[in-house]
Amino acid sequence: MPGIKYFPYNLNVENKRIVVRVDLNVPLKDKKIQDSTRIEQVIPFLQDLVRRKAKIILISHLGRPKGMRNNALSLLPIYKYLKKKLSTNMYFYTGEINDELNTKSSFLKESEILLIENIRFFKEETENDEKFSKKLGELGEIYVNNAFSCSHRKQSSIHNITKFVKEIYAGPLLEKEITAIDSVIKNKKDPVTCIIGGSKVSTKIGVIFSLIKNTNNIVIVGALANNFLAYKTNEIGKSLKEDNSEDIVKKILEEAKVRVCKIIIPEDCLVSKSFEGEAISKNIMSIDKDDIILDIGPKTVNIIEKIIDNSNTVMWNGPAGYFENKRFALGTNAIAQRVSRNTKSKSLISVLGGGDTVSAINNSGLELSFTHLSTAGGAFLEYLEGKDLPGLSVLK
Ligand code: 3PG
Ligand code: MG
Repeated sequence: MPGIKYFPYNLNVENKRIVVRVDLNVPLKDKKIQDSTRIEQVIPFLQDLVRRKAKIILISHLGRPKGMRNNALSLLPIYKYLKKKLSTNMYFYTGEINDELNTKSSFLKESEILLIENIRFFKEETENDEKFSKKLGELGEIYVNNAFSCSHRKQSSIHNITKFVKEIYAGPLLEKEITAIDSVIKNKKDPVTCIIGGSKVSTKIGVIFSLIKNTNNIVIVGALANNFLAYKTNEIGKSLKEDNSEDIVKKILEEAKVRVCKIIIPEDCLVSKSFEGEAISKNIMSIDKDDIILDIGPKTVNIIEKIIDNSNTVMWNGPAGYFENKRFALGTNAIAQRVSRNTKSKSLISVLGGGDTVSAINNSGLELSFTHLSTAGGAFLEYLEGKDLPGLSVLK
């Protein structure tokens, strides 16, 4: 993306306070890290700053605590993980965003790091509040956004903070992500297929609407597909579905017709009575009232594999099923294998994105390779859509 100011690799940061926005939003289960990819990706730049004797103030969110403290969404486990990996003094700040924090950060010595507790514990973060952003901005002389995956959010630590720091830059990880995605967009070849899954339904429906314009096929999987199935008056039992999604689904299908973009939805699926239960394969017409759809079925896998074989570019975001239970990882793994195989043998251009997608790939135990694997989800999709991301605009 032209115009973005990237962090100059030879910038003198010695003894300077530098605020770094990172994305440590990793999946946790009972406070245990389920996938550490995002944390690992943050480490090289931190190590570099430590070596160059900067004083580092780290900001991240975790989940969506809606402006309230929530122990289950504390960054503490991630702090512990980072502390072990980085050979320097590292502190965890759990107080308010006030003068005390400013004083604490001013006590940092060269090469030390202060991680602030989940910034979304403060409602001002998601409100992009000016005063709050100013307080965050006053913590450093330099600000670096190294979280491409959060750059679609108009929130204090991504957006308004940039008004209150003199020197602002995009970090190397952000640079790497957009350089890779830019090159895929530039080189993409028809037919283009987008595979969209996952469960964050409301955020994805708008994106699909835009993708219709320059995509030949859109394959809808995961919980997202339930909205389409329900719209077509299929029984979906107790499966996850967004309230009032009918109107938007209708619009998507109409727009797809006009733009001659094929929308593919599942024809069969794997269901269970609970998320931890056994998998039963069913045709989409025979779902019972107490079934939960947790994966695509073998017939649908077959259809998707054929579409992948006939594509020259595949963009994929969001798993096809509840992959956390291995019985429902079959669809996701099959798609991953076919995309990877064609990337290697038929020079398919493949770009995958999303925290869950990355976790699913890492948990599959399969040896897979893609043109680019992005840990960004929403930001990745909005960037592909050609949208101006608020967090990137302010870095120009
Ligand atoms: C993500 O996982 O998509 C990023 O960390 C941003 O989180 P959000 O979707 O809750 O804003
Ligand atoms: Mg997201």
